[in-house]
Amino acid sequence: MKIAIINGPNLNLLGTREPDQYGSQIFEVYYAQLQEKFAAVEFSYFQSNVEGELINEMQKAAHWADGIILNPAGYTHTSVAIGDTIAGIKTPVIEVHISNVHAREDFRKISHVSAKCKGTVSGFGMKGYELALQSFMLD
Ligand code: DQA
Repeated sequence: MKIAIINGPNLNLLGTREPDQYGSQIFEVYYAQLQEKFAAVEFSYFQSNVEGELINEMQKAAHWADGIILNPAGYTHTSVAIGDTIAGIKTPVIEVHISNVHAREDFRKISHVSAKCKGTVSGFGMKGYELALQSFMLD
């Protein structure tokens, strides 16, 4: 199984960014653990603070990945373009949020991507990425 993990803006700051919301783990450390635990899965990881770069990476992943695990971060709530990308590719996408976006500010309850995704995992901390992966593996 081939999985692309794509993280949006400010997720490069995990570890120090709002630890009350996102914990204190650095994503790269979690990613290494995930790769070790699921050694049979071929992963790629990409993070960008730039909307178009996230779109380019999703379009590229659509050529090889069996599934995309996407945390669009702040773009979740603003990006029609990322929603259009998900609708436009055949590769299934699972949306992940580390925090429970529904328990936060009202603007975080709006998503331009959820309806285009296979499903959403929100509020389970970093392990949401593993839950999304497990879901792909059950298919
Ligand atoms: C987030 C939730 C978003 O609302 C926020 O803008 C983020 C991170 C999460 O993982 O909980 O940057 O996607």
